[in-house]
Amino acid sequence: MTKNHQTEEKTCDENSTTCSSGQSAHAPKGLPPKSKIDVKHVILVLSGKGGVGKSTVSVNLATALSAHGRIVGLLDLDIHGPNIPKMLGIEDQRPAVLANSLEPVHVTGTLAVMSMAFLLPDTSTPVVWRGPMKMAVIQQFLNEVNWGSLDYLVVDLPPGTGDEALSIVQQAPNLRGAVIVTTPQDVAVLDAVKAIKFIEKLDLPVIGIIENMSGMICPHCGDIIDLFGRGGGEKAAHDLGVPYLGSIPLDPEMVKAGDEGRPYILRHADSPTWRAVDAVMENLVKIVES
Ligand SMILES: Nc1ncnc2c1ncn2[C@@H]1O[C@H](COP(=O)(O)OP(=O)(O)O)[C@@H](O)[C@H]1O
Ligand SMILES: [Mg+2]
Ligand SMILES: [Zn+2]
Repeated sequence: MTKNHQTEEKTCDENSTTCSSGQSAHAPKGLPPKSKIDVKHVILVLSGKGGVGKSTVSVNLATALSAHGRIVGLLDLDIHGPNIPKMLGIEDQRPAVLANSLEPVHVTGTLAVMSMAFLLPDTSTPVVWRGPMKMAVIQQFLNEVNWGSLDYLVVDLPPGTGDEALSIVQQAPNLRGAVIVTTPQDVAVLDAVKAIKFIEKLDLPVIGIIENMSGMICPHCGDIIDLFGRGGGEKAAHDLGVPYLGSIPLDPEMVKAGDEGRPYILRHADSPTWRAVDAVMENLVKIVES
């Protein structure tokens, strides 16, 4: 999951204005049409900065939704650091190639995953792509993956406000909005505010804010220790007039689960952290399905 930017880059530099193909970077070449993917609710998971637990939240939210009878697709659009497959222990799997489509990797009968990681020769190879190339790959992920009929497509995005978010907003049908993940620290909350402004510019509703790593579960007694303070996410939600979906504590077991490739929520049913994830999921469902 560490990104190695030291090794040689595969294509042209995103920051330069031209590349080997001679095309100008970021020149939009006609927008792709809306995808015909069969999905009731598309949910974006966003944050202003990395490391706040976006991917962890995406995995656990998708798992919780599927455990509650929804048919869920999880789309990992973190093209530069796709780590969802590792978190789910499916990094060695590859989507089956069918006549005109790709079969996503099925984690359970109701949870299917597609990730850049499946298409890269190895995840330590950094990918440096221009905007239009990202748009093309996102178009393929929506249109050429055999998702079937989904209730939810949960989309894990890279940190910040870049091409991936723009592309998915242009192409995804039934986009219900974005969930913002933040941590209690002031700087992370500020970043969440930035992400919210970006989403509002796109005319996309903010489904709500989730405060992750909100207090810590003591490994000894299971109580919550107030490590970095709590409540920043809730305050930001209140100040910005967007819903607050709830908080998820920092749980050492969550780190272990991520490293071992099993979603936390499957292993620790009925722990305080599980209940926190479940409550966040229920709040989201209330907003999205009402
Ligand atoms: N609630 C949590 N409790 C404990 N560890 C967490 C929690 N949320 C995230 N982490 C850990 O923090 C690190 C960064 O999380 P990740 O989901 O990759 O962040 P992002 O996708 O925002 O970059 C990972 O090692 C993950 O296991
Ligand atoms: Mg991530
Ligand atoms: Zn304790």
